[in-house]
Amino acid sequence: MSSTKIAFTSCARYKPNQPQTAWNDIAVADPDYLLLLGDQIYMDFGLWPFASEYQGKPRQYTPEQFAAVMRRKYELQWSEPHFARLVARMRARNGFLGVWDDHDFGWNNAYGNDPTQPADVHLAEKRDIARSLFHEFMACAPQPPEIYGFQDTALARIIFLDNRYHATPLSVENPVLMGPQQMDFLAAHLQHDRQYTLICGGLTLMHSAENWSRYSAEFARFTQMIAGHDRVIYLGGDIHKNAFSAPSADARPPCFEIISSGLCVNYLGLPFEFDCRRNWTLLTLDPKQVLIDQHDKKGITRYRIDQASWVSQSLGRELRAA
Ligand SMILES: [Fe+2]
Repeated sequence: MSSTKIAFTSCARYKPNQPQTAWNDIAVADPDYLLLLGDQIYMDFGLWPFASEYQGKPRQYTPEQFAAVMRRKYELQWSEPHFARLVARMRARNGFLGVWDDHDFGWNNAYGNDPTQPADVHLAEKRDIARSLFHEFMACAPQPPEIYGFQDTALARIIFLDNRYHATPLSVENPVLMGPQQMDFLAAHLQHDRQYTLICGGLTLMHSAENWSRYSAEFARFTQMIAGHDRVIYLGGDIHKNAFSAPSADARPPCFEIISSGLCVNYLGLPFEFDCRRNWTLLTLDPKQVLIDQHDKKGITRYRIDQASWVSQSLGRELRAA
């Protein structure tokens, strides 16, 4: 059986006059699949009073304004020429898939099931507007109206999780990120005959302040669920960095966790490229191993996971030619 190349990344903030050339880096690798793991658009970014679309501002929009702003952002991103070319190519090979995260769901750290939001935020209407625009533009979800679903490839089952629509904030009683129905879906779909399982989410398992492990009861169920399954890799986005973690004895994380985030964003939101990220990852799966190439603007960091032992090794770092 030949190998399968799966590219994944997250976080692209469209800015006029800033060509998103990093999508070309992915096109050159010629992947079979491209997985976008959230923040395909940014409804908000930066802090009040320094940013015009500061974090949380979309809460104040009427549902009509919210729909118009979100549609416009999708239209701009989807017409960015480097992105549009790659998306067309990946769609032609049925290889364009993904999930969302907070900035393409609503606003920074937004949760679809949040009883702490006042009625004038119109949370329920906005989450459905966001979901329908996700389906219109991403057009990849196997079981709409849900964002979550799965896709089988020759060597791997890829499971997509939605950590927004059903999620609650941590402050409520019995908080959840996925919700019981989605957890049942995950448990059922971990059973399959492919060699590898890739579980994709917008958030990370362990990194940054907002991550799945903080939802301790649900995360314990996840840990228990995958304990009986070999060769599981979790892929996530959100943090505008690349990261690679092997499963640890204390199950933090309980499986390999590979994060790739920040293809076309910069930290400070300044109108030039000096701290742009260009982060993305290429997985090459074959029956004997998974090769992981984590790209950033300065080079590539490589790892290998052996299929038989399910142990990883670092293969070092290669710097980009200046
Ligand atoms: Fe992001």
